[in-house]
Amino acid sequence: MALAPRTASVPNDLESYWMPFTANRAFKKAPRLIAGAKDMHYFTTDGRRLLDAGAGMWCCNAGHNRDPIVAAIQHQAAELDYAPAFQFGHPKAFELASRVSALAPADLDHVFFCNSGSEAVDTALKIALAYHAVRGEGARTRLIGRERGYHGVGFGGISVGGIVNNRKLFGTLLAGVDHLPATYNRAEQAFTKGEPAWGAHLADELERVVALHDAGTIAAVIVEPMAGSTGVLPAPKGYLPRLRAICDKYGILLIFDEVITGFGRLGFPFAAERYGVVPDLITFAKGVTSGTVPMGGVIVRKPVYDAFMRGPEHVAELFHGYTYSAHPLACAAGLATLDLYRQEKLFERAYQIEQKFADAAMSLKGLPNVLDIRTVGITAGIDLASRPDAVGQRAYAAMERAFYDHDIIFRATGETIAVTPPLIISESEIDELFDRVGKVIRAVP
Ligand SMILES: Cc1ncc(COP(=O)(O)O)c(C=O)c1O
Repeated sequence: MALAPRTASVPNDLESYWMPFTANRAFKKAPRLIAGAKDMHYFTTDGRRLLDAGAGMWCCNAGHNRDPIVAAIQHQAAELDYAPAFQFGHPKAFELASRVSALAPADLDHVFFCNSGSEAVDTALKIALAYHAVRGEGARTRLIGRERGYHGVGFGGISVGGIVNNRKLFGTLLAGVDHLPATYNRAEQAFTKGEPAWGAHLADELERVVALHDAGTIAAVIVEPMAGSTGVLPAPKGYLPRLRAICDKYGILLIFDEVITGFGRLGFPFAAERYGVVPDLITFAKGVTSGTVPMGGVIVRKPVYDAFMRGPEHVAELFHGYTYSAHPLACAAGLATLDLYRQEKLFERAYQIEQKFADAAMSLKGLPNVLDIRTVGITAGIDLASRPDAVGQRAYAAMERAFYDHDIIFRATGETIAVTPPLIISESEIDELFDRVGKVIRAVP
């Protein structure tokens, strides 16, 4: 198999493509084009080899272009391209649902498939609302998210999400949404490895929200166990169990958005297991296929699923789904990916190298403009000081310098560099990665 396309063709007109979450004008003046990938590396159109410090976008947990996954997708495309998703099925959809639910804790036994994290979030919110309605508690319509939460870009997701730029231009969003406070406080938590000791009490804010609205109006709380897209904010010690206890007390469903934390990022199949907390619903995407074919889904506890299994048997129990729910290519990719995770023990591996990863990340403490470093699992967030009157510009410049001058690729979110490599990263590559990130930070005064 060819590794690096040395002379990949380059488009001569970049204008038509309106790129997502991208500074289009700046990109089109100085494009960063990627033409190939293998294991820990990307290859540019001019043949340079870049270390992937972002697992694509938190998704290629098994590394890139892994042979068994490639073969499974190729085989599936030749065998069954598509099967109707409503009222028909294909065997791999059932097999993958069983495999995913077997990885999830407790009685999280049922899987609803969709195609992205955003769809997974909107699906979970709809299931939560409908669950209360079918049980005769239709007044429970409020959804509670969290400041600095990212739950994708559907109207449900941006409503419960807590990023102002993702919300402010899009109207009134969903009605009846409230937010818990973010769990990050630099004064209390700076340079923490793993879960910060300070912050469990912030879960008690849910009591305040309940007192304000009454529990009988609240359907669900949705949080990321580790907020990724707003800069790697691990849950404080004890925070998630406390949230679970308050939800139990008031009959509120707890949704963990594990689109990033699922499939090994924090050293476990799901972060729920790391934290010993069983949510009612888990959303997932990204790592389920190691980023190869779009897929997302919601894992649901048995009592939630059972609540819907009533009424005439010829009628759909949930009026929701997508043409491409459980697409055959995604299912084939998912099964091959889960096999690879198991064969190479990648979740356990992530857990084993977490300390080494955290130490290497913390070695950047003291570099110019580094305000904080946070680590959890195989993930680090490095906050840089903003340049005067130009918030986000330094991290953006770091991302550019990394790509052009230091042969490394990572995501910058706001003023944070997010380092989230594939879980196959070797110990020497961890050192190499943070060495390069250090050089990049020095290069953006
Ligand atoms: C926690 C979380 N939820 C949802 C999403 C949205 O996923 P997608 O971009 O696949 O729609 C993301 C994406 O990064 C995410 O991090």
